[in-house]
Amino acid sequence: MTQHLTLRRPDDMHLHLRDGAMLKGIIGESARHFARAIIMPNLVPPVVTANDAVAYRDRILGALPDGTDFQPLMTLYLTEATDPADVAFAHASGLVKAVKLYPAGATTNSASGVRDFDKVRAVLEKMAEIGLPLCVHGEVTDPTIDIFDREAVFIDRVLDPIRRATPGLRVVMEHITTSEGVAYARSGGDNLGATITTHHLIINRNHILAGGIRPHYYCLPVAKRETHRQALRQAATSGEARFFLGTDSAPHPDPLKENACGCAGCFTATNTLSILAHVFEEEGALDRLEAFTSCNGADFYRLPPNQTFLKLTKGDAVAYPNKIQTDAGAVTVFDPGFPLLWAVSD
Ligand code: NCD
Ligand code: ZN
Repeated sequence: MTQHLTLRRPDDMHLHLRDGAMLKGIIGESARHFARAIIMPNLVPPVVTANDAVAYRDRILGALPDGTDFQPLMTLYLTEATDPADVAFAHASGLVKAVKLYPAGATTNSASGVRDFDKVRAVLEKMAEIGLPLCVHGEVTDPTIDIFDREAVFIDRVLDPIRRATPGLRVVMEHITTSEGVAYARSGGDNLGATITTHHLIINRNHILAGGIRPHYYCLPVAKRETHRQALRQAATSGEARFFLGTDSAPHPDPLKENACGCAGCFTATNTLSILAHVFEEEGALDRLEAFTSCNGADFYRLPPNQTFLKLTKGDAVAYPNKIQTDAGAVTVFDPGFPLLWAVSD
């Protein structure tokens, strides 16, 4: 039985760090284990231009605890007014690693997202030309579509048409939650990748709704039925290069989660690696954990692999905090519902 594992330091290819007191309070949770992360731009107001991204990157670096070595990989929030030249400039300067597409109204802070996809055609064409990936929040916002079907419908109605209309566009399907998402990711070539979160490998929709409503398991895209969770586990542990970790760790202060209209987002930065080691061990795939956390994403983003390593050791249950206290309020850490036996150290 494997009790020790050396892991190339991982990258989180989908992370929400927020700003101000929340950023300061939670960034150490990611910097402790992760070398780099693709930073989501859905601030209020969003990170739209190269200048916005420079300023946000500087605030992130300024919030890092002393002695931590963590590289934020910046993204731009795609709006109908985004200028292709600004995107190309941000990419050429090495600052920006992706552009994020939120359909307007799909999730937290997405009001400035895209309504009319024809209006972003020139940006997408420029991105295809320069090889800059588009990270896609893949849910339709049509209120007549059932929330559990919004990912599958998005693939047919929006994602596939965009990819056909813009050959060569590199796309990351963010936080896929369905077997349809897994199948579509597999149907693409080297230009198509998909991130999978930690929590979607653990919870299905029963965890949110059975026996009482559990706001800390509510996120978008919402967790689906068990067959989909199984498809995600199979994909994540398959070793296939197209699938990689993006935690979508998304902190909200507890009062905004434990609320009559609670915010979407699970906070998994703190204990993600211990949870993933558990999942990969259960699936008999510990030898493929590193591909998922540390290699496939870097390859997709054409980044050099990290040259430092972590140790994972199986032993007594690891004591992670239930909450992270910040000056913006307490943030509940995702509870996987089982003891975490894999400890992470330098
Ligand atoms: C994210 C957030 O809180 O910013 N929430 C979530 O449920 N995942 C937004 C997002 O990625 O959809
Ligand atoms: Zn997200």
